Amino acid sequence: MKIVVAGTGYVGCVHAAVCSEYGHEVYAYDNDTNKIKAFSSGKTEAIEKYVNEPGLVNIVRETLGKSLFFSSDLQSIMEGVDVVFMCLPTPPNLNGSTNLTFYDAAAEDIAQSLAKRKDKRRTVLVNKSTVPIGTVRHLEKIMQTHKVANFGVASNPEFLAEGTAVLQARRPDRVVVGCDNEEDFKILRRVYSQFVNHVRIKYIETTPETAEAIKYVANTMLLTYISFWNGVGAKIGEKIPNVKIDDLRMGVTADERISTWGSFVSNGAGGSCFGKDIASLIYQLRKVNVSTKMLEASYEVNEFQKVYLIDRAITEANFQFNNKTVAVLGLAFKKHTNDMRDASSIKVIESLLGKGVTRINAYDPLANEAAKVQFDPSKNILFEKIHYCESAKEAIKGTQALFISSDCEEFRGFSRTVEDTVKPPYLVMDGRRMIPDFEEMAAKGYSYLAVGSMMIQPH
Ligand code: UDX
Repeated sequence: MKIVVAGTGYVGCVHAAVCSEYGHEVYAYDNDTNKIKAFSSGKTEAIEKYVNEPGLVNIVRETLGKSLFFSSDLQSIMEGVDVVFMCLPTPPNLNGSTNLTFYDAAAEDIAQSLAKRKDKRRTVLVNKSTVPIGTVRHLEKIMQTHKVANFGVASNPEFLAEGTAVLQARRPDRVVVGCDNEEDFKILRRVYSQFVNHVRIKYIETTPETAEAIKYVANTMLLTYISFWNGVGAKIGEKIPNVKIDDLRMGVTADERISTWGSFVSNGAGGSCFGKDIASLIYQLRKVNVSTKMLEASYEVNEFQKVYLIDRAITEANFQFNNKTVAVLGLAFKKHTNDMRDASSIKVIESLLGKGVTRINAYDPLANEAAKVQFDPSKNILFEKIHYCESAKEAIKGTQALFISSDCEEFRGFSRTVEDTVKPPYLVMDGRRMIPDFEEMAAKGYSYLAVGSMMIQPH
């Protein structure tokens, strides 16, 4: 199959690379020529500057120039194309609705190129990145307006989690394909021939609108599950004496109907999808007069979680942030990524700066550079107070408190590093429950405050 992937963000790049592994001829298109240059170079550093996803560079290196090509000239790659995957950014507007500016611009360009091609074979345009339910019809209209001949529209949402996207794209749980007719289903079956009739992978064929809805319901369900643990499980552990949250989690998730994933209480779930998708679904459902109370509660609990440990530090540990130096460890929204989008650390750092800290020592094994862009001092002078460190130990030095804001493995069992670097009185705020031996720390004079537990004062 000849495939064009429009948009070389994290979704488009991974999808293009994995499709090229399966023997298709894949053209990844982006109007950002710098990006195209970087990907076409095949160089690790150049590629990872844009998409840092384990395993991606290896595939690009293997298939580049053979079955994978990068281009910013749409017209030259549209001749004879079977499938165009739309992998454009769809950021949120302030009211929660989805901003389709990038999507529309790309769809217009694609329509113009398709209308001009000589080969009029059937082309299916597929929405891959998350778009509001019904966007396929909008895409169909754009193609009709440009008098594109012989095309179909479809939805084939991606469910990839960052950090494991390549592995998941190679062996997904399910492939969801929404088309209007058998002709288009057949074309998509050829794209995904390795997954059709697979013993383990569910290959689901449905209407385009259902496929689009599956993505929203899946993501909002996942966030709601995390919010349930944060809003109910964690609170029981924090307010009722002698309840151990980790045992509570194990006891509850021993039931095979209840997932372990999502039961790890935290200072909120971040990332580019959850917040944006739940806000968008709320917007879409309000438009058709459906009550969105449940989704609003999930969203609110998640936002509350991001910073409430700082308020707990004031009320429960009597800690005053004014004029203090605080370390923030874990800047990306989770481990194994440099992605700062919607990361809880953003709210944590803004809250600390608002409370008058003199200095923040920030550290993340992968995201320091991305954080410098996020906390650009030219946008907010207070960001000048952030100093980036090469290690967690360096970040902790000279501070009076630390905040763990992501689940990087190196923070696990971190007590030794803390004890070797700073002397009590010292406050540890653990947004990810990374320190199992907190009782021992408390015995040595450190104060420990974690999501899911009561404040542990020094013994
Ligand atoms: C998510 C979905 O998993 C994926 O299917 C969808 O396509 C895109 O959104 P991703 O954003 O990469 O993927 O992150 P994920 O691994 O799901 O984690 C999201 C956030 O939830 C992270 O901040 C993570 O640390 C947090 N989380 C996860 C918890 O707080 N507790 C948990 O138990 C699990």
